[in-house]
Amino acid sequence: MVTEKQVREELEGIMVPGVMRSLGGLNAIREIDIKKKKITIALATAAMSPIVQEWIKAKIIKTLGGLPGVGEIEVKYSEVVTGELSNVKNIIAIMSGKGGVGKSLVAGMMAVALRSKGYEVGILDADITGPSIPKMFGISEKPIGSSTGIMPVLSRTGIGVMSINLLLPQEDEAVIWRGPIIAKAITQFWEDVHWGNLDYLIIDLPPGTADVPLTVMQSFPISGVIIVFTPQDLTAMIVRKAVNMARKMGKKVLGVFENMSYLYIPELDKKIELFGKSRGKEMSEAAEAPLLGQLGVDPRLAALCDEGNIEQYDGEIIKSLGDSIPKIVTKEMKGKK
Ligand SMILES: Nc1ncnc2c1ncn2[C@@H]1O[C@H](COP(=O)(O)OP(=O)(O)OP(=O)(O)O)[C@@H](O)[C@H]1O
Ligand SMILES: [Mg+2]
Repeated sequence: MVTEKQVREELEGIMVPGVMRSLGGLNAIREIDIKKKKITIALATAAMSPIVQEWIKAKIIKTLGGLPGVGEIEVKYSEVVTGELSNVKNIIAIMSGKGGVGKSLVAGMMAVALRSKGYEVGILDADITGPSIPKMFGISEKPIGSSTGIMPVLSRTGIGVMSINLLLPQEDEAVIWRGPIIAKAITQFWEDVHWGNLDYLIIDLPPGTADVPLTVMQSFPISGVIIVFTPQDLTAMIVRKAVNMARKMGKKVLGVFENMSYLYIPELDKKIELFGKSRGKEMSEAAEAPLLGQLGVDPRLAALCDEGNIEQYDGEIIKSLGDSIPKIVTKEMKGKK
């Protein structure tokens, strides 16, 4: 007789057409029941269209039919609230006290770093009025969806990307919604997006400590926040505001990240502190959290982002973030137990 484990292994690898993810990756397998020779499989429709559902059914019957000792195979679909199917282990929100410090770039880089270590990663662009994540990843396809929810668009390396920009009829359309509507959209990014099985979901917040960051912190089960800053004078106070907001919301600051720390001049082999002396140590102390990295101004990185090729960036920081983030998160989880 076949075992549930065998059946699950066979099923998990089946790729869902159009979304480049497997049934396992989508977390769509709800139940496997084996009674003598009959196997019954319950799948969640998981934003699959009826045609795709039929295709999957046929594929399953063919795949399992080849196993020894298998007779009848029944495949049932059920509609499950999309949010219930999302199995996201860690959600990290990327915050900054003010705009233009490179938060989106750092959020994108963190997703790339974690993906390069083999984790399942998603990135949510929660900056409704100034979305920039899809452009960095060179994505403009519309997400696939059905009445039960929508699926993130996969990047070239397999990072699930979701942004208001992907839902607008035209990429350059302005979103001129008022607060409550924006808040509703943010909530839907959690409840109606089929994130599937993810190790990490990175959320790129809009700058500051206003409405949207608040809504995100209330709507998503966030594991912690990472604060991005630059070494400019005023940022010290603004970073403290961000730290305080996270704390008030009961969210742990997992780390701080200094961007535009310096400009490296290769001809002179010299680092120039463009925006003043590094504040890394000071910020790390203020946030009572580790300094995750210091990134200089790197024209190559800026160009890769503009071209939609952030995934090609292979600076040292990618390796170090890919190592440090999982360590910090694991430590945090252990502390909570
Ligand atoms: N370390 C860096 N080296 C080179 N360019 C950078 C670096 N960090 C950010 N940039 C560039 O600076 C610009 C602003 O960065 P980004 O959009 O990530 O900032 P942000 O904090 O998300 O801004 P906003 O507050 O508008 O959301 C982008 O064009 C980005 O490519
Ligand atoms: Mg941004």
